[in-house]
Amino acid sequence: MCGIIGIASYKPVSVNIINSLKKLEYRGYDSAGIATIKKDLIDEKKCSGRVDELEKILFKTPSDGNIGIGHVRWATHGIPNLINAHPHSSESVSVVHNGIIENSDELKKNLLSKGLKFKSQTDTEVITILITEELKKNKPLVSVFKTLNKLKGSFALGIIFKDFPNIIIGARRGSPLAVGYSNKENYLGSDSYALKSMTNKISYLDDGELCVLSKNEVSFYDFSMKKINKKVHIVSNDENMAEKGDYKNFMSKEIFEQPITVKKCVNEYIDNLKKDINIFNFPIDPREIKKIYLIGCGTAYHSCLVTKYWIEELTNIDVETDIASEFRYRNLKFDKKNLYIFVSQSGETADTAAALDICKKNNVKTCSVINVIESTIARNSDWVLPIHAGPEIGVASTKAFLGQLIVLYILSLKLASVRGEITKDIYIKNIQNLITLPETIKSILKLESKIQMMAKEFINARGTMFLGRGSSFPIALEGALKLKELSYLHAEGYPAGEMKHGPLALIEEGLPVIVIAPKDKYYEKTLSNMQEVISRGGKIFLLTDNKKDALSENIRFGLRVPHLDNLLSGILLTVPLQLLAYHVALLKNCDIDKPRNLAKSVTVE
Ligand code: F6R
Repeated sequence: MCGIIGIASYKPVSVNIINSLKKLEYRGYDSAGIATIKKDLIDEKKCSGRVDELEKILFKTPSDGNIGIGHVRWATHGIPNLINAHPHSSESVSVVHNGIIENSDELKKNLLSKGLKFKSQTDTEVITILITEELKKNKPLVSVFKTLNKLKGSFALGIIFKDFPNIIIGARRGSPLAVGYSNKENYLGSDSYALKSMTNKISYLDDGELCVLSKNEVSFYDFSMKKINKKVHIVSNDENMAEKGDYKNFMSKEIFEQPITVKKCVNEYIDNLKKDINIFNFPIDPREIKKIYLIGCGTAYHSCLVTKYWIEELTNIDVETDIASEFRYRNLKFDKKNLYIFVSQSGETADTAAALDICKKNNVKTCSVINVIESTIARNSDWVLPIHAGPEIGVASTKAFLGQLIVLYILSLKLASVRGEITKDIYIKNIQNLITLPETIKSILKLESKIQMMAKEFINARGTMFLGRGSSFPIALEGALKLKELSYLHAEGYPAGEMKHGPLALIEEGLPVIVIAPKDKYYEKTLSNMQEVISRGGKIFLLTDNKKDALSENIRFGLRVPHLDNLLSGILLTVPLQLLAYHVALLKNCDIDKPRNLAKSVTVE
């Protein structure tokens, strides 16, 4: 999704803006642009397509301003093209924007009626025109304040001014914005990751706040224009984990580093000597918890769904799961004895952050299971359980999904133990299983060549289905999501037992159907559902951890992973599904790290 960079320096900034925009490419975008103040004029350069194109333009016609803003755009209002690319500049001001201005049509109509002209189809240009008008009467900060008061919706903004060539103003409502500090240079960024190569000293704007940056100074203001102080965080530098190394793309790197990230996560939470789980400081006494809500979007929502099965299996706590964009508009009865858990890799997903805000307004206890610990969701939660996966750059979530599952599984076990709902023996056995998990994942990754063969059978498919029961149902959903987002092949995940109620009509001769059937209590039932698909011509790809099942001649392809424990099978069976999606996409020549139309961090509703 859109990304913002701003740099106020004593030296030309365009090269560093381009380098930082490259760091934001992983978020998914369709055009890019930069504006600097150069000899009393706004020097704006834009392109549709990649930051490399913008770099070429700058190479031919350099920008040498010491203050500037840059942007990568993920289209919301107006098609992805050169004119709609940010920044949007007038003669006196240039603006980059993340988010959506919900009343832009109304504001635009009003401005047009006053004879003002627009160049683009974007909502952002409304901000440019409004600030330009205010600047005729006011100084920059007041002009921005007055403009923000007219806007409905969400934004993170970076603004520079022709007549005030030493400052950048940043503002936040809804969309994240960070400020970085260095010697004679200060920065604005839509996430701290983009600033990490320049500084590790970061402050985060909260909703309604503004900042004014110059090369020597940063001032912060609240929504009433009162000057405020912000905490400076020293952020970890995990740059190495964000490099592709010898891998073809980030996604393959992230799939193959899962044994390491899972080990790191397990080590953070498991005390191997005491055979115990290091989770303390529950915001509610676990014995008092009435109900747990698990909330997330996309892949993160799938980890919520898997966890529902785990908590129900291990404890007597009621569980409800919801997609954040649904949760935030439900008429819910909040209860102080409930725990509300938010799952998010980025910690910046707009719907998840909004759902968390609603819980906070209702004074209930919140927990977040998060990869980016400096993120908005982490900062706003009562309790944070990090997944320690390191930067995830591929748009399709892989190692973060496993990280979420590990932490949520560990949390489920701890809840069961503190509530006295699990025997000491089973608790210890489960902990031991977790410790062997990284090695088991390593052995599954060795199945890659088989999965590569399997992938060939999907290249010409018109669609596909993923079936599972119990906690394998959300794994089926995740397998389908990975395949569709990476290879653009229509894929549906279904509970295998639900096929007869409609989806069986889709089965035709040769349709590839992936059946996820670990040897758990659903195993025989899943295989019966599989037979129903076989009888109708479906081409079966069976994934299982059962040592001695009939991988019969009716099955097109069978893949066996090691068996650890029924509850952990979902984690293990996810890995072949990631590899399958990856190889189908590779064979179809798709952009693996940046699938079309998608963004890594979905910071708009
Ligand atoms: C799919 C994927 C998305 C994200 C979703 C939530 O591969 O990555 O479905 O899981 O956009 O993002 P986070 O976890 O950052 O809240």
